[in-house]
Amino acid sequence: MPVRKITVNVEPRPYDAIIENGLLRTVGAHISETMGRNARVFVVSVPPVRKHWKATLGKSLKAAGLQHDWLEMADGERQKHLGAIEKLATKLVERRADRGSLIVAFGGGVVGDVAGMLASIYMRGIDVVQVPTTFLAQVDASIGGKTGVNLAVGKNLLGTFHQPRAVLIDPEVLKTLPEREYRSGLYEALKCGVIANPEIFDYMEQHRERILQRDPKSLEWLIAECVQVKADVVAADERESGLRRILNFGHTIGHALEADTSYKVFLHGEAVAWGMVAACMIASGMKKSSAETSRRIISLVLQYGQLPKVQLRGRSIVRRLLSDKKTHNGVVHFVLPTEIGKVEVVRDVREQAVVQAVDELRKLSKR
Ligand SMILES: NC(=O)c1ccc[n+]([C@@H]2O[C@H](COP(=O)([O-])OP(=O)(O)OC[C@H]3O[C@@H](n4cnc5c(N)ncnc54)[C@H](O)[C@@H]3O)[C@@H](O)[C@H]2O)c1
Ligand SMILES: [Zn+2]
Repeated sequence: MPVRKITVNVEPRPYDAIIENGLLRTVGAHISETMGRNARVFVVSVPPVRKHWKATLGKSLKAAGLQHDWLEMADGERQKHLGAIEKLATKLVERRADRGSLIVAFGGGVVGDVAGMLASIYMRGIDVVQVPTTFLAQVDASIGGKTGVNLAVGKNLLGTFHQPRAVLIDPEVLKTLPEREYRSGLYEALKCGVIANPEIFDYMEQHRERILQRDPKSLEWLIAECVQVKADVVAADERESGLRRILNFGHTIGHALEADTSYKVFLHGEAVAWGMVAACMIASGMKKSSAETSRRIISLVLQYGQLPKVQLRGRSIVRRLLSDKKTHNGVVHFVLPTEIGKVEVVRDVREQAVVQAVDELRKLSKR
């Protein structure tokens, strides 16, 4: 099987994302090739990942002659706060990490964000390699250099841009991912299909069973195609001025659903799934897309499993959208599909259209 290597073209230094089944066993070799043998490695991870994969990673670092330490943070989104970074940074100092040390972020998006931010500010910035272990982190969070933590008053409000030196993706580690986490990540892949690459969309339509069974070959292909989409968008718009917005397809309403239920009902991808359904309804209502395009997208979303029910009313989502801290001057942007593989960023969606779409989600949930 050919190795998939995708270059993320950012300034000042492009880096590669490598996608390959079994890659965890050669992570050490890749690191010493990219960074030289002298870097001291500090792996940041969480207990569930340690349990399944520490031995494999450790062996591979050792085989490459890399001296390494294991640093752990507690698991879960609630751990994504400044306190976690302070604790890890203190451990780094105690273990004499210096400016030449390397952090390996080994976990899902939470670890990627925390370890990435830690690397960006420890001694004013040290290198980080991302080794993502959830589907969501493999196709999305590990690429693009965004890092961040939450504040009690809102998510991802503190953060930095800090591009990794490399992103090393082994689809095989997904074997141990809980089913719901896995499926939730798949909606981000579906998103990549809708916003930029119809081949991904067709593939997900045609190979649903294989993908749900986590067939390694299918995953290697799917993840690589999604990484390509994200890499292209990031390279064109490193600091998120315009184009990166298309990655927010499904996220406008998705974020509102998550926030309105205090992040307790939906996993991120599940909320995005509903958000994509709503965006399709809005798009066909505004005649941005054909009814057939919307139907195809909605149907594929619903084929990837049962989503938690939407119980709130459209009105409260609209209130939520307008009060979102990231909303500028009351203008809410929607990313709407025009055809499969193309989207448009729209600012003039009528409130009533949003209310109606969310009320439709509620009805769909009841089926
Ligand atoms: N920086 C970005 O560009 C970006 C983009 C999207 C999302 N994010 C962030 O990513 C976070 C969500 O990431 P996530 O969905 O990966 O959640 P997560 O990191 O919390 O991981 C989900 C769960 O799976 C466990 N896990 C991870 N890998 C495993 C494996 N291989 N086997 C068994 N269990 C495993 C984790 O320990 C955790 O319990 C959010 O905080 C979000 O803000 C960041
Ligand atoms: Zn997302």
